[in-house]
Amino acid sequence: MVVLVALAAVARARSHRGEVTLDDAAHPPAMASGDEGRALLARFECNRCHDGTGLASVARERHCVRCHQEVHQGTFTPPVPAATLARWQQHIVHLREVPSLAALGSRLRSEWVEAYLLAPHALRPELGATMPRLALNTHDARTLARWLTEGPRVRASVTGNGARGRTRYGALGCGTCHQFSGASAPAAAPAPLSLTPDEFARARSLAPDLRSTRDRWIPSAVAAHLMNPRATVPDGVMPSFGLSAGDAADLAIFVLTTPLAPLATRHVPPRPARLARPVRWSEVESRVLRRTCWHCHSEPDFARGEGGVGNVGGFGFAPRGVNLASYEGLYAGVLSPTGERESLLRPGPDGVAPLVRVLLARQAEEAGARVEGVRGMPLGLPALAPDEIALVDTWIAQGARVDGE
Ligand code: HEC
Ligand code: HEC
Ligand code: HEC
Ligand code: HEC
Repeated sequence: MVVLVALAAVARARSHRGEVTLDDAAHPPAMASGDEGRALLARFECNRCHDGTGLASVARERHCVRCHQEVHQGTFTPPVPAATLARWQQHIVHLREVPSLAALGSRLRSEWVEAYLLAPHALRPELGATMPRLALNTHDARTLARWLTEGPRVRASVTGNGARGRTRYGALGCGTCHQFSGASAPAAAPAPLSLTPDEFARARSLAPDLRSTRDRWIPSAVAAHLMNPRATVPDGVMPSFGLSAGDAADLAIFVLTTPLAPLATRHVPPRPARLARPVRWSEVESRVLRRTCWHCHSEPDFARGEGGVGNVGGFGFAPRGVNLASYEGLYAGVLSPTGERESLLRPGPDGVAPLVRVLLARQAEEAGARVEGVRGMPLGLPALAPDEIALVDTWIAQGARVDGE
């Protein structure tokens, strides 16, 4: 899919004496009913992570990103003991920044958004969290994509010189925030910007790898973005460089057409070997379950009433009743689609317990190979390290006992 889109972009390019022109594609047909798009955004609760969906904002108690930001900034209310706050601040690394979906139609291609929602992959190398793999079908994805990118758009084009753009790219320090995998980009000079270290770190974490920009963006919008980033990403954080139209166009042509070397194929890692030493429940609990899984799989009274989407449902998922906040909760297993409780600890015919299977599936998803019928965990977060997976696997193989039994 991505390859086809890239080829289409090349086919629309014209070049003349080092100047390349890229034409915008036609706007996809308007949606039959915008109400359906809005209803889907609400059903999948996209606004629990993203701003700019056009839906009313959700309460802090349910907003994954806002609450994490309040904890990090120390403005969380009601006040909690300083030691608790410090521990929380140290623990929360994910979902503190998420790109806004405001005015997506001014920049992203509808076809790309549709394909991405069905098969999300990492775009921002420093963000850690990725867009979660939700239970969307192709109709949902198309409707959401059309709705999010809807709006008036003038078909236009951009003409510039990629070699000049490449030189500007190095001189302006674009690479101090952006990775550009597979491109031959010059070494980055310091960017001529006055940002505080915090502002800089935030901008870096939200800066996409420019490798996929040619698949994602409407060509003329890249030049518009470089002249005035707020016009295309109204609540974005890329600073303005005050570029002339000519410089912006040269940079856009460089970003959109410079040759890209193929990336090394990512292989699914081998299953981590079990540990030779005894593993205690308390270690599994503190290093894995409480650390990473707990917040989506917790007691319904934690954090002011939420039980977590993997327990009570959310993001369009039915309640699956997986409570990883205690041994008893884990032992109680998962609700099957037919409403029966199934064990997460009993190994299947392949010798792998369901609790371990979801962890291995996340490793596979990261390598671009999703496992049929298994959603990788932690959902939308980096796979656990091999030694953490080995820890869970070993504990189960040793009898999945609580400490002292
Ligand atoms: C758990 C939080 C979460 C939820 C819920 C969520 N997203 Fe995302 N989404 C993310 C994160 C994190 C990223 C950035 C990923 C990256 O850059 O690799 C993202 C990226 C995106 C992007 C790409 C935007 C860009 O500028 O690159 C789109 C489009 C998107 N999400 C749409 C949706 C839609 C539509 C929904 C609801 C159906 C949704 N998201 C639900 C976390 C979430
Ligand atoms: C009311 C505040 C609040 C809300 C809402 C909230 N969180 Fe958290 N989250 C926290 C706190 C506090 C921690 C740290 C807890 C600890 O480690 O003791 C945390 C930790 C986490 C962690 C583990 C640390 C990390 O960065 O990997 C994940 C994952 C997580 N939350 C995901 C979510 C998701 C997904 C949502 C939305 C469905 C959400 N949270 C909503 C307060 C919140
Ligand atoms: C201080 C960090 C920073 C610097 C320096 C920076 N950018 Fe960005 N850039 C961002 C962020 C963050 C975004 C995401 C949109 C936003 O939040 O404004 C972005 C978005 C983009 C995009 C859209 C990419 C996509 O796939 O969504 C392009 C193209 C781009 N920048 C090009 C450049 C160029 C060219 C330069 C040098 C002139 C540059 N950037 C310098 C932070 C930066
Ligand atoms: C961002 C939220 C989130 C995080 C973090 C998360 N989960 Fe989940 N988990 C979910 C959701 C949502 C479901 C239900 C998915 C479905 O029904 O397809 C789920 C389902 C599960 C299931 C049941 C799978 C099945 O279909 O039988 C297991 C097991 C599980 N999670 C384990 C974990 C473990 C272990 C971790 C930590 C390493 C973790 N989860 C972290 C959201 C999360």
